Amino acid sequence: MQPPHFNNQKIKVLFVCLGNICRSPAAEGIFKKMVADEGLESEIFVDSAGTSGWHKGELPDDRMRMHGKQRGYDFCSRARKFDKDDFDNFDYIIVMDDENYRNVKKLAESEDDAAKIHLMTDFSNKYSRSQVPDPYYGGASGFELVMDLLEDACQNLLKEIKERKA
Ligand code: 4NP
Repeated sequence: MQPPHFNNQKIKVLFVCLGNICRSPAAEGIFKKMVADEGLESEIFVDSAGTSGWHKGELPDDRMRMHGKQRGYDFCSRARKFDKDDFDNFDYIIVMDDENYRNVKKLAESEDDAAKIHLMTDFSNKYSRSQVPDPYYGGASGFELVMDLLEDACQNLLKEIKERKA
């Protein structure tokens, strides 16, 4: 796969989970804030999607929004379903767990498509977990863990993109 064109084109990053109301909109909100804080909004486009369309059009889950707000984020995207056209429109497709990985991979139509799929935890630095666990049916500690994993991985993702653009 050709590396994305980092110098003359916006880098497009899509975060993906199951429902697009907990983990991936949180990743989107965290990463957008980091991108904005560095003044890179004109260089990096950020979005999120779910492998299911169960919550299409909804705001993120109230619990996810609350845990985000406590750390200074505003998670306000609207849920949508991942579409195979997303392979054409994004450079990085970053999934939260192995189930997301399998479901996105099924829609890949080429090796180039498949090479765009990464696990969020591949960008982890401080944590050694292999997936960002689904917090939906659990308690507050699950949402805090999601926030910890996403903040760490987003920092390293931004570092990687900046290094490749340099
Ligand atoms: P997410 O969490 O994939 O992080 O958005 C979930 C949201 C909703 C459901 C499952 C996981 N659900 O079963 O509706």
